[in-house]
Order: sequence, then structure tokens, then C-alpha cells
Amino acid sequence: MTAQDENPPFLYVVVCAAGIAADVGRLITAAQRREWHVGVIATPVAMNGFFDTAAVEAQTGRPIRSAWRKPGEPRPFPDPDAVVVAPATFNTVNKWAAGIADTLALATLSETAGLGVPIGVLPCVSDALAGHPAYQESLIRLRGMGVRFGYPHDGTEGAEFGWERVLDLVE
Ligand SMILES: Cc1cc2nc3c(=O)[nH]c(=O)nc-3n(C[C@H](O)[C@H](O)[C@H](O)COP(=O)(O)O)c2cc1C
Repeated sequence: MTAQDENPPFLYVVVCAAGIAADVGRLITAAQRREWHVGVIATPVAMNGFFDTAAVEAQTGRPIRSAWRKPGEPRPFPDPDAVVVAPATFNTVNKWAAGIADTLALATLSETAGLGVPIGVLPCVSDALAGHPAYQESLIRLRGMGVRFGYPHDGTEGAEFGWERVLDLVE
């Protein structure tokens, strides 16, 4: 057994509550093809019908995390080698940039960014929302922290979302 078998590369996939999250299985498949082990952290709103949670748990072989563990409980996932946020919502991008950590997803993003873990983000934000000055400032702030952004998507049905390309941002 090699050192890598004992400690395989681990990817956190952070899922926010955008309609396109229904296809997040495509990202997990692409990551697993690239030899990543995957743990999904979803926002509480995303857990409320935005994607097939049972299918994702079957695909990753791990429970989805959305809430904090109890004190004294073991950490459910290994430390991440990389994090991807796909889809990233207007709400989560702005809260992350503002340092708000009221979901496990947000707290994990701020902590992993602070630890220097590579983070790739694929926003799914309509043009109307993306024009908000707070959002533009959030992007600048997060980029300044070293966060890498993929080509944004405006939520239009049928338009290509870069599920696989977001992995290129962190590899
Ligand atoms: C069907 C549906 C689709 C949505 N799609 C998006 C989206 O593409 N992008 C976005 O920023 N918000 C979208 N929203 C709004 C978010 O779900 C809402 O802002 C939520 O508070 C985001 O929570 P989160 O950032 O914690 O996941 C959508 C809401 C619904 C009901």
C-alpha cells in the first residue's frame, strides 16, 4: 500500500441552493474519475429539495454534511486537499466575503481559505443580481484571498455549467 492509498486526495464539494444544483452528481462523477475522494457540504437551503441527497450520499459513500457536529463527536470528513463551491449562490458569495459563518458551508469556506487550501468557485448568479455592487466587491475581496473563480453562469436553462472545469481550478 502506498502513502497515497492511506491518505487519498480529499475534495470538499460545497453545494448552495441554486436550481442547477440538481446536476451536482456530474461534478462528483468527474472528480471521482480524477481520483478524488469526495465529501459534500450543502447549505441548509440546498438540502431542502435542490438536489437528490440520497443519490449523492450513495455516490460519495458518505453522509452529506450541513450542520455542525456535536462537541466531542469525531470529525466526519478528513481535512480537504481542495474545495470547490458549485453552484455558488449570490447569498453565499456575499456572506463569505463579509466573514459571516452562520452555515457550516460558510464556516468551512472561511476556515479552509485561511488555511491556504485551494478553493475553486463556480457562481450561478443572474445578471440582475451580479450587477449589485456588493456582489462585485465580494468577488474582488475573495479573489484577493486567493479564491479562484470559474466562468460564471446566469442560471439560464440549457446553458453549459462548467462542472468539470471547476476541478481544473484546484488541480
Ligand atoms: C428554484 C430556485 C432556484 C434558485 N436559483 C438560484 C440561483 O441560481 N442563484 C442564486 O444565487 N440563488 C438562487 N436561488 C435563491 C437561493 O436559493 C436563496 O438566495 C438562498 O437563500 C440561498 O441560500 P444558500 O446561499 O445558503 O444556499 C434559487 C431559489 C429557488 C427557489
